[in-house]
Amino acid sequence: MRVDHDAQARNRAGERATAAAATAVAHPNIALIKYWGKRDERLVLPRTGSLSMTLDIFPTTTRVRLDPTAENDTVTLDGVPVTGQALHRVTAFLDLVRRRAGSSRRAVVDTENTVPTGAGLASSASGFAALAVAAATAYGLDLDATALSRLARRGSGSASRSLFGGFAQWHPGPSTAGAAEADLGSYAEPVPVGDLEPALVLAVVDAGPKAMSSRVAMRHTVDTSPLYEAWARSSEDDLAEMRAALRRGDLHGVGELAERNALGMHATMLAARPAVRYLAPATVTVLDAVLRLRQQGVAAYATMDAGPNVKVLCHRADAERVAGAVRGAAPEAATHIAGPGPGARLLGREER
Ligand code: PMV
Repeated sequence: MRVDHDAQARNRAGERATAAAATAVAHPNIALIKYWGKRDERLVLPRTGSLSMTLDIFPTTTRVRLDPTAENDTVTLDGVPVTGQALHRVTAFLDLVRRRAGSSRRAVVDTENTVPTGAGLASSASGFAALAVAAATAYGLDLDATALSRLARRGSGSASRSLFGGFAQWHPGPSTAGAAEADLGSYAEPVPVGDLEPALVLAVVDAGPKAMSSRVAMRHTVDTSPLYEAWARSSEDDLAEMRAALRRGDLHGVGELAERNALGMHATMLAARPAVRYLAPATVTVLDAVLRLRQQGVAAYATMDAGPNVKVLCHRADAERVAGAVRGAAPEAATHIAGPGPGARLLGREER
């Protein structure tokens, strides 16, 4: 029998490189300049650049354990088995990691989520950022933060930004390039920020799952909304101005840009055919409360994602007052105060 010593050596090296298990943590992020619309669905390449703040609350912790005997991946979320479309999404992501690692081993993925899942609070961002770090480590891929950001992007676009703490910008990548080059160019990186002590007050008016996933809603908006192209163009200008406002430490400027960019994004959805409307009566009540705060001289600005909840950007020192005003106007709203949080990181790896 012919023995392929090289292959044996490669296998041994491969097996040494993989871990028995790896655990990572990541925090959600809230976009101040939104990601809304893909130009490539498979590679998750966005139409426009986006910019977000990573939060210091609601972390997701994920453990990936390789199981040499299993025939399928198993996934649990807060101890409950994940099935259907959600399981398929994780398996497709792990397939990507396995292809790169040259492995066919299945995995056991256990995730503890502290953010209300599906409530427009970006649990997919922290989820896929933590999964990217844990899975890359477990399968023995040696990836830097940029490569991990690219990888996390394939799970959920906004996850590319949760790799980084503080403020992060996700680049769309060159739009005229071929797929490989565009893929390489689309990742997030940290954004320099001046003297700014920001807080985001999360006003959760509805913690239930959203009516339509952001993936479906953004595709429908790009395909049918006559306002989409105008928003995409203006969003590029908003992004450049946002970087400048952050560098100056200008909270008013940051807030005005964030609010107009988000309202513009929701306008594109309202103009889609048929309309996608995430904003609920309680959302508008909170928006009115934010306006009143501004009239009282408090720097407070709102942003909303694919759901009815509102995130209010303000100075750290004003956060309690803002949260109180929100609850006063919308007593059904639960409020949480977040500051800038850390990037995704590995908590540990367990060797065989
Ligand atoms: O990453 P996804 O597919 O969950 O899309 C996120 C879209 C928004 O949250 C609405 C905007 C953003 O940039 O996070």
